[in-house]
Amino acid sequence: MNSDSLTPRGNWGSKVAFIFAASGSAIGLGSIWRFPIMVGLNGGAVFVFAYILAVILIGFPLMLTELTIGRHTQKNPVGAFKALKPGTPWKLVGYMGVFTGVCILSYYSVIAAWAAGYLYKTLFGAFRGEITWAVSDQIFSSFAANPLEVLLCFFVVIALTTFVISRGVKGGIERWSKILMPMLFALIIIMAIRALTLKGAGPGISFYLKPDPTKITPKLFFYAVGQAFFSLSLGMGTMITYGSYISKKDNLSSSAGWVCFSTTLVAFLAGIIIFPTLFATPGINPQEVQASTGLMFQVFPLIISKLPGGYLFGVLFFILLLVAALTSTISLLEVPTAFLIDEHNWRRGKAAVVIGTAAFLLGIPSALSNGASPFLTRIGLMMKMDLVFGNIMLAVGGLFITIFVAYAWGIPQALKEIAQGNRSFKVKPLWVFSMKYLAPLAIIAILIFTIILA
Ligand code: PHE
Repeated sequence: MNSDSLTPRGNWGSKVAFIFAASGSAIGLGSIWRFPIMVGLNGGAVFVFAYILAVILIGFPLMLTELTIGRHTQKNPVGAFKALKPGTPWKLVGYMGVFTGVCILSYYSVIAAWAAGYLYKTLFGAFRGEITWAVSDQIFSSFAANPLEVLLCFFVVIALTTFVISRGVKGGIERWSKILMPMLFALIIIMAIRALTLKGAGPGISFYLKPDPTKITPKLFFYAVGQAFFSLSLGMGTMITYGSYISKKDNLSSSAGWVCFSTTLVAFLAGIIIFPTLFATPGINPQEVQASTGLMFQVFPLIISKLPGGYLFGVLFFILLLVAALTSTISLLEVPTAFLIDEHNWRRGKAAVVIGTAAFLLGIPSALSNGASPFLTRIGLMMKMDLVFGNIMLAVGGLFITIFVAYAWGIPQALKEIAQGNRSFKVKPLWVFSMKYLAPLAIIAILIFTIILA
């Protein structure tokens, strides 16, 4: 913890350290695994544009709001709402966030477990030599359907996450993010360049970047906003919790801007890797697989095998992917843990272990829903969990947070907090407009169209 921190609460070491830690939460499987699936599911380029719009108009303003609430109250989501509007039901928004966090952590860790499994598969040479689609597909399906292997990796992911969180904010999160995130970024750029230079990359590039207006539907916006929230870790109080560790000297708006920019860039590049590679690979119909749960795991080995030094590159990539996933699982576990520490006086270690165990037990059905259990596979449990918690609950949470700041706590109060460390708040009109009108109305419209009228 910082010796010169302004409050008894531990602070991030510096603004840059905060940006790395918050980007560590944001950048993860949401950008690299989930974003391409959403692009595949929603007709390609139109989704990419809808997503970018959602990030600028709703995601960025909401991130700023969450950080502002967090820094102002210095509390977890439940404590924050209690402090700002004591004795009102607003604290329920905080409870909802804590609950959503545990549920997302449960299935998110299963995907992180796949990344862990791919790390040792790569290490032991499973992807040596030229990899065809048939081989890659076979490796993925048999791995995802193997209950013992997946559950073991799942356990390791939850155990590592719990270990880091039980050691506290600075010692845990910061150290991970600083060195490894830039490395991941470098590898992703190399793969993106290789994918763009593949023979036959053209159709994939068009699918990804040339919008087909006939594909625009209300569902598209539902998924775009959901993806923006998921990838930016918004709507459940992660950024309230992380904001509670920011110093009053830091500029919240530019910090939020950097986190949004770097996350969106990684997601964009992940798509640049996946779609050209997918469309240039012989022996498959891209339409059939472009939205499959294992898309990233089926496609990445194909491009890695085409790089010089593919073996080492692959090992390094899966190490970094796992770290990116862990910096996100860490942030998911930090929300309920901070809640139990602040509101119920639990010890950090005990809180982390109890919530970690709960997430593990809750995640077992998701872990078995990709081939291991025919019943759970048929209902597609994992992606159902993702729809409910990763999309709907985050959108509902985000809706309440915007209504809270605009109509309960009040824009002038929030502006006072934002002004600390930021004398010229240049995007103020965008932020005020989004919080008061755009974000709440858009989220309500999207939820009505897709859930109630669907
Ligand atoms: N943003 C993380 C990712 O994209 C996932 C996450 C969602 C983390 C919500 C915290 C809260 O990987």
